[in-house]
Amino acid sequence: MIFRVFASPAAVVTEAVDVIARAARASLSTQPTFSIVLAGGQTPAEVYRKLREIDVDWSRWKVYWGDERCLLADDPGRNSVMARDTWLEHVAIPRDNIFVIPAHLGAELAAAEYAAVIQRENSFDLAILGVGEDGHTASLFPGLEGDATAWCVPVYHAPKPPAERISLSARAFHACRDILVIATGANKRAALTRWQAGERIPITEVTRGKAVQVLVDRAATPDFA
Ligand code: 6PG
Repeated sequence: MIFRVFASPAAVVTEAVDVIARAARASLSTQPTFSIVLAGGQTPAEVYRKLREIDVDWSRWKVYWGDERCLLADDPGRNSVMARDTWLEHVAIPRDNIFVIPAHLGAELAAAEYAAVIQRENSFDLAILGVGEDGHTASLFPGLEGDATAWCVPVYHAPKPPAERISLSARAFHACRDILVIATGANKRAALTRWQAGERIPITEVTRGKAVQVLVDRAATPDFA
């Protein structure tokens, strides 16, 4: 993993947008589509907002999510609603190319349905990931990673509300060619330090063996990055 430290969260956002734009242009120079797996939570919101401004062929993007919260489709707490409001409704990605996790169906059914969607795509160009203070990523929480052979797992007792979620598994994230982790704020430093030390927390398992860029501000920088 390559840690890249920036002076502020705003600088991390600017670089994240540039990394995503460059990844898309590189993919689209050699293949018909660019497939991206989105992170939820608050950290990526400003990145998504600024993605509106990049000059790319949106018609060739395919958008997936790494996880979703089991809330109604238009609930403001949904990761899909955050990405829609900040970015997706402002750009011309074909609606058929936006694959929202049907989390309103409940964790079990939604995980089964989305596993079929993920397996149909089979590989992805870029996954965006956040990190929680306990080392979780997507909705893979310590001790709740579920069936490691599955592509998508139901989560029922997530310590971060809501308790019921769906998440891509480590196996599914390993089908992403590149992974971009974005983490800012002092509350992320401990988890990033544990990851750096190789502790077997979800972010470690999800990114194991992958080409990973980690964009952090100074406050989140691990003790020995
Ligand atoms: C979610 C996310 C989760 C998030 C981390 C970091 O549904 O909440 O998928 O994995 O990325 O908890 O969240 P923040 O970016 O809000 O710190």
